[in-house]
Amino acid sequence: MSGTVTFDGAPPPGTINMGIGQPSANLLPVELVRKASEAFFADAQPFELNYGVLQGDERFLASLADYLTDEYGTAVSADTLFVSGGNSQALDLVSVMFAKPGDTVFVEEPSYFLAFQIFRDHGLKIVGIPMDDEGIRIPELEKALKVHRPAFLYTIPSFQNPGGQCLPIERRKKLVELAKKHNFLIVADEVYQLLYYYEVPPPAFGTMTGSEAVVSLGSFSKILAPAMRLGWIQTSPALRNQLISNGFVNSGGSINHISSHLVRQAIDLGLLGDHVAHLRKVYRSRVEAMDRALRKEFGSLAKWKKPGGGYFFWIEFPDGTDTGPLREQAAKLETGFQGGAVFSSSGGLSNFLRLSFAHYAEDQIAEGIRRMRPLFK
Ligand SMILES: Cc1ncc(COP(=O)(O)O)c(C=O)c1O
Repeated sequence: MSGTVTFDGAPPPGTINMGIGQPSANLLPVELVRKASEAFFADAQPFELNYGVLQGDERFLASLADYLTDEYGTAVSADTLFVSGGNSQALDLVSVMFAKPGDTVFVEEPSYFLAFQIFRDHGLKIVGIPMDDEGIRIPELEKALKVHRPAFLYTIPSFQNPGGQCLPIERRKKLVELAKKHNFLIVADEVYQLLYYYEVPPPAFGTMTGSEAVVSLGSFSKILAPAMRLGWIQTSPALRNQLISNGFVNSGGSINHISSHLVRQAIDLGLLGDHVAHLRKVYRSRVEAMDRALRKEFGSLAKWKKPGGGYFFWIEFPDGTDTGPLREQAAKLETGFQGGAVFSSSGGLSNFLRLSFAHYAEDQIAEGIRRMRPLFK
């Protein structure tokens, strides 16, 4: 079975589907996880295979706090951290703990489409707030706040999915101010915060948790491996206590306790830091390759901004081309993309598409974009 592709939506052999927002096989660090596992099991104690304490193993949270302190350049305290099963699980948890069925939540327009489904699973009503090249538009948010009382605002502040924007520091501060004034939470999905390829993004919302208005979600999916199913929630001690009181957590203990042991070793041995540095180099070169190929094939047809981090290019067709129906033809040409409409909470954005550069090497990216060209007149 070695080499068998086993993820949902895996393309047929030969197809270059840039709709896939997952790392390529050569960036999934089996050797790293092996070393971390060996280090852990070399002197693992029986209690480490028991249920873990509710907020997460204290040694893991201490290592994570050190790692984030280094990365953020701001002291992160372990008692602001709570172990999660990755950002998908964390979104589910915040929907349960910080909203109730029938509540409204604000999302960015466009936003990560699978989050919509999680919010709808919990009976939450979604209202989209328009963005510009720098992120969520504050005047539009203020306008919406005159009509709605959201439980929370879901934002992807750095290297947004799909748009790639990085919200400037002034707007981040303004969001916190508005959240306090209007009594809603900011749920910041910071899954791409550490994946920058040129400049370091503005400070994570994780550094603003003193406000009592911020819940920052971080994940090891993009910086280590999705299979770890491990992440963290960074928030104020009071909000963290609310998370700890969740029934699922109370019954099951620390979420994904065993993964947290392995990731602690990866952090303490310096393996995670080295891996993230490697990812930044590889992804930067893929960003460059995608930008070059787009300029060559789509220069006069489409508009985009080269992203400074994350996984995605967000491409607009100003002539209004509806990209969704073209996906079937793209598959016949052995290429692929994600249509823009799925990222809209209100049925717009059909003249956009999203490409990920994370799953393919430079030459495949160039070839995949070349194959797409005939679909667009
Ligand atoms: C914005 C965003 N949030 C969450 C996720 C999923 O995160 P996790 O694997 O930590 O559940 C993704 C993955 O593509 C994402 O892009």
